[in-house]
Amino acid sequence: MTEAAIEIGSLPVPRHVAVIMDGNGRWAKARFLPRAIGHQRGSEAVREVTRAAADFGVEYLTLYAFSSENWKRPADEVGDLMGLLRIYLRREIGELDANGVCVRMIGNRGRLPRDVLALVDEAEARTRNNRRMTLTLAISYGGQDEIVMAARALAEDAVAGRIRPEQIDAALFASRLETAGIPDPDLVIRTSGEKRLSNFLLWQAAYAEFIFVDTLWPDFGRQELAAALDEYRARDRRFGARPE
Ligand code: IPE
Ligand code: IPE
Ligand code: MG
Repeated sequence: MTEAAIEIGSLPVPRHVAVIMDGNGRWAKARFLPRAIGHQRGSEAVREVTRAAADFGVEYLTLYAFSSENWKRPADEVGDLMGLLRIYLRREIGELDANGVCVRMIGNRGRLPRDVLALVDEAEARTRNNRRMTLTLAISYGGQDEIVMAARALAEDAVAGRIRPEQIDAALFASRLETAGIPDPDLVIRTSGEKRLSNFLLWQAAYAEFIFVDTLWPDFGRQELAAALDEYRARDRRFGARPE
């Protein structure tokens, strides 16, 4: 490698990495296995990537686990995914807590099965003071819904006289999103070769770097994350300003 090539990787490790974990179904199909097995292997990838992200010094990891549109899938698949979420929350919370990971959920809590919501509440309460890394699980999450809810809350405040409409700016708006307090993602990774956001972090990803990889989510692990972080570090982020 030349000296110039070594100098390229100049950005720090991204503070916030967000991942659209896609391709479980195709992973299973390629092996003539039921989709549920693909999702199960996907949840194992979640364990590995979460550990690796913390080891690499990522401060915020956000994982898109279930979109507001995924409720349109057949009931048995939705049931399998909720079942895996239950297992994940029961099994992993001890290790996450021991490793200093703070767990949060974004998404529509009202649509979750009652016992899954109880597990989420418990995970959040148990890990709330952890500081090594924040793991945000996007479950029943949709970026458009999130923006609409923020707009509605601000409209209610304005009607009630708590704020004046002209006070609404990007910072106030962001403070009403579910991600309030979490910095915007520096890097959004999507697996499985699809190149779209599918309603993920629409507001927050305004200046994120995007990496699309063909790897299917169950095959994405520590090495693949390291490669994505290397690729990110070689990017040139300008935020609309003129490069030096
Ligand atoms: C990602 O895998 C998991 C969820 C969206 C819940 P998919 O189930 O979307 O897998 P593909 O895209 O069909 O391969
Ligand atoms: C996006 O994947 C949602 C999650 C990864 C949770 P989908 O597989 O649902 O997205 P589309 O339907 O291909 O856009
Ligand atoms: Mg998919």
